[in-house]
Amino acid sequence: MPQIKVFDTTLRDGEQSPGVNLNQLEKLEIAKQLERFGVDIMEAGFPASSQGDFEGVRKIAQTIKNASVTGLARAKKSDIDTAWEALKDAVEPRLHIFLATSPIHMTYKLKKTPEEVIQTAVEMVSYARQKFPQVEWSAEDASRSDLDFLAKIIEKVIDAGATVINLPDTVGYTTPEEYGHLFRYMKDTVPNIDKVTLSAHCHDDLGMAVANSIAALENGAGQVEGTINGIGERAGNAALEEIAVALNIRNDKYPFITNLVLKEIKRTSDLVSKLTGMAVPANKAVVGRNAFAHESGIHQDGVLKNAATYEIITPALVGVQSNDLILGKHSGRHAFKDKIEKLGFQLADEKLTAAFQAFKKLTDRKKEVTDDDLFSILTEIQTDV
Ligand code: KIV
Ligand code: ZN
Repeated sequence: MPQIKVFDTTLRDGEQSPGVNLNQLEKLEIAKQLERFGVDIMEAGFPASSQGDFEGVRKIAQTIKNASVTGLARAKKSDIDTAWEALKDAVEPRLHIFLATSPIHMTYKLKKTPEEVIQTAVEMVSYARQKFPQVEWSAEDASRSDLDFLAKIIEKVIDAGATVINLPDTVGYTTPEEYGHLFRYMKDTVPNIDKVTLSAHCHDDLGMAVANSIAALENGAGQVEGTINGIGERAGNAALEEIAVALNIRNDKYPFITNLVLKEIKRTSDLVSKLTGMAVPANKAVVGRNAFAHESGIHQDGVLKNAATYEIITPALVGVQSNDLILGKHSGRHAFKDKIEKLGFQLADEKLTAAFQAFKKLTDRKKEVTDDDLFSILTEIQTDV
């Protein structure tokens, strides 16, 4: 089974989420947890963007021993030099350098011709390779770039010394079929492509970031990028925990191995949410509060008989203590009995019926019945002789 690399960019693209600003200590705490989670590469920041980010990246580079640490740089010598100063103490320093390749970015943002873009990319990658053992080059807005132009610039950038080529879907525009085709096309047409690892980096503007990332893996990508909880610019990046669990649960379809320690998922998600201040939506896949909660009586009855009836992921797999049967108006007698037994109440049939009826009555007034509500119902029933 092919081993793929996982590149986490929570501390760089994730931190670009509007309203998020992590201080150096918070970044370091997340970096240590990412190391426990088993990411292969962590992008610690953008060293040239501010003195604070420079210091934060440097501290992470000096501390993390079991992952490669990288930092972002524009295609400018000064950015590359600053990134080197921040990253040089890392066990495996990597530079992540980017330059846009789509017509709209080249014309309006860079104001460069395609030939000038090739020249800058080649010059900056070879400059970076004088310092860094690993240089990842990103063709920003790759998914809206001309395929033949992309193939041409990739070939030249590889000759200049890039070790990883990233093809980002910068604006979250692509589809799984189209993004898969992009990777397959490069694999089939760029003559020196086997010298490098191809990487997928997806944004979630159309809600397809995870599906697109997996399509890239199926078509030759050897590295996948994303963030914890899917945080990031605009609608965010591909959620790494979702990719990790999808690859694990659907290994029959996606036979890829990662170094990730899945039971660290919940802890990592909680930490990132706490320190960024970005709440995880309750219905978010894998890490949302409701991801292992069952509300309807039919589902609760099924789960009590065999959890696999309605759970494809076991809570333990991702470090969640247990599933949760929410007691509300949809709950049935089976879930109710199970819950009160867990609270220490054993009722004979008649009393159980009375308690269940009292509970059902309460659900007309309350959306969710708490343990305290149950205690008061049960105490009343038990003392009622
Ligand atoms: O989405 C993007 O294109 C990026 C690049 C800097 C890789 O984040
Ligand atoms: Zn991005």
